[in-house]
Amino acid sequence: MSIETRPLTDHFGVEAMGVDLAAPMTDATFEALRRAFVDAGVMLIRNQDHLTPADQVRFSARFGPLESHVLGQFTLPGQPEIFVVSNIVEDGRHIGAHGGSKQYHSDLAYLAAPSLGSIFRCLECPKEGGETAFISMAAAYDALPGNIRMRLETLNAEYDYAWGYDQRHAKTRGPLSAEQRAKTPPIAHPAVIAHPETGRPALFLSDIWIRRFGGLSEAETEALLDAVMAIAAAPDAEYRHQWQPGDVVLWDNRSTMHKACPFDETNTRRLMHRTTIQGTPPVRFDG
Ligand SMILES: [Fe+2]
Repeated sequence: MSIETRPLTDHFGVEAMGVDLAAPMTDATFEALRRAFVDAGVMLIRNQDHLTPADQVRFSARFGPLESHVLGQFTLPGQPEIFVVSNIVEDGRHIGAHGGSKQYHSDLAYLAAPSLGSIFRCLECPKEGGETAFISMAAAYDALPGNIRMRLETLNAEYDYAWGYDQRHAKTRGPLSAEQRAKTPPIAHPAVIAHPETGRPALFLSDIWIRRFGGLSEAETEALLDAVMAIAAAPDAEYRHQWQPGDVVLWDNRSTMHKACPFDETNTRRLMHRTTIQGTPPVRFDG
């Protein structure tokens, strides 16, 4: 069984054609789709306007158990596996998470077991802006100079979600509750991980939540992260997805990072539904 695909860039990402995520799918077809997704890191599937939230949850759950986001106020009523990302305000309150993630990150990297992958569906979007940009952290590992690569292979990064949230979101989204803080204690992950399915090394560095590398000061950490990200997020390394309603994009959080691009949040509407697949604790790449 094979899935018809075409590349999105010369180094990662594919579009899968002729796929209907609401229709029954055999295990063999799903397995071919899953394999193509893991190999590419990012997979685009267009023309899924007809999907219901339940369809999205059903398809997503074939990859494994799904997360309910720590920000429970932004999940869909009655469908807690759907995390709503939107700038839309109804009855004086935001219906989804908004105004964040404009820096590269891997979803839920701050948890002990970060996400395997995320599935993002566009319901409404502006004609301009609001793209999602992706980079391959496997390609970034390959592109690093040998001395930086060898240094990173020995390091652990210390993640602190509440610290990152307080700096970036507390003003617009309100403070984290004591319960939300309790769910997100600081955690360390290796800076270079082996992909659990392919074995391929990849950088695992979501700098928005990284407070420091073990043994390095915050200033040394920032300098090293800046040097790495200048290579990882170089303009020709990125894939920028310009959304159309009905687009579904799957990304592998173990081998890619992504960020939201700006748009006119005052005069245009963007409404996205995300499902997030649970993953396993990252394992250090040891050559
Ligand atoms: Fe994200």
